[in-house]
Amino acid sequence: MFDTQTVEQFAQVLAKTLVTEQAKANRAEAAKFLGYQGTSNKQTIEKVSANSLFEILDEPFNESVNIKVRKWSLPHVAVPSIKENYFFRKDLLVEVNALVLQPRKYGLFLTGKKGTGKSSIIEQYCARTGLPLYQETGSSTTEYLDLFGTTLPTVSGSIKFLAGKLFTAIKEGGIYLLDEIDMMSAGELVKLNELFTADKIYVPQIEEWVNVHKDFRFVATGNTNGSGLSGSYVGANVLNEAFMDRFYVIDVPYMTKELEQKFMESVVSDIEQKYGLAKNKSYQNKRAGVLPLASQMVEVARAIRTSAEQQDLPVLSLRGLERWIFKYLTGKSILDSFKIAYANTLDEPTKEAVVEILTTHIPTVQAA
Ligand SMILES: Nc1ncnc2c1ncn2[C@@H]1O[C@H](COP(=O)(O)OP(=O)(O)OP(=O)(O)O)[C@@H](O)[C@H]1O
Ligand SMILES: [Mg+2]
Repeated sequence: MFDTQTVEQFAQVLAKTLVTEQAKANRAEAAKFLGYQGTSNKQTIEKVSANSLFEILDEPFNESVNIKVRKWSLPHVAVPSIKENYFFRKDLLVEVNALVLQPRKYGLFLTGKKGTGKSSIIEQYCARTGLPLYQETGSSTTEYLDLFGTTLPTVSGSIKFLAGKLFTAIKEGGIYLLDEIDMMSAGELVKLNELFTADKIYVPQIEEWVNVHKDFRFVATGNTNGSGLSGSYVGANVLNEAFMDRFYVIDVPYMTKELEQKFMESVVSDIEQKYGLAKNKSYQNKRAGVLPLASQMVEVARAIRTSAEQQDLPVLSLRGLERWIFKYLTGKSILDSFKIAYANTLDEPTKEAVVEILTTHIPTVQAA
């Protein structure tokens, strides 16, 4: 199946496949699957310059800043894949780096509107530095114990413990990322308080104390800042003050206009390549206008976000922009792609209002 000479090579190809497919298996499972003993997956730590590690950076680091990079003889399955056109924002990167390099004491809470880049900065940081990432999304029904794992009865009548992501991160080290934490019940979250400083933690399902790995870090994200702000974020809870007191809280705004435009340019070139648009006759005619249009789309998104501050309006996020340009490049009109990517979720009066913002910024839409 694979053109490989040795078992070692075969194992490496398989391990890569596991990584790209974002397999759920943790390192021990992967090693077992590959016929390796856990210890054969050796980790080494190197220091490399921050500028070379986070190539696309909005503002370079001082030359002397080095970051620890973990390398594995077999790729660790929980390390996310690198997204090539990811633009690091230095101000956020500095905070994530501080969390990782300083001894664990507090967590990091990233708060900001949807699609501002909260989860992806953590994901791409781990991808570049080789830190395992255990991500999950909180909901109103997520309970403290669920985060550690699940128990299942077996045919033989015994109980089997299936380790959850939090348990694995605590035991093996890595970043545990709990997204949409403000959707969870404050009463459940407060039970996590001891995690921030304790050296060991009791896991009820296995009736055992587990040592907290020195490289364990806790990151939470939320569309609100724990104060229960409602707005478009239905279901956000007021989080317990004692719980919030365990975090550095960083506000993540949308990217700057310039960075967002660069992001759109890279999305365009990706789509052009992936879909072979250069060879497409009808695309060739509109090619010259694409980048100026992408830039206008960014203006529209920013104008919508500004009006969203005054009235309760779902914003057009980075993801929305990505969908919009994709639909446009693959054949829809500017207006139709705007609706498919974003406006069709709005009620009629709001939809009319955002279409008006669209036509103010891109007057040619009228004719489309
Ligand atoms: N700096 C960046 N460079 C390139 N792409 C980015 C950047 N930041 C975010 N993105 C992309 O924008 C999209 C939204 O980002 P992300 O999922 O991190 O947002 P979020 O703040 O976690 O949103 P939500 O609140 O909805 O969970 C993703 O597709 C992500 O890859
Ligand atoms: Mg997120």
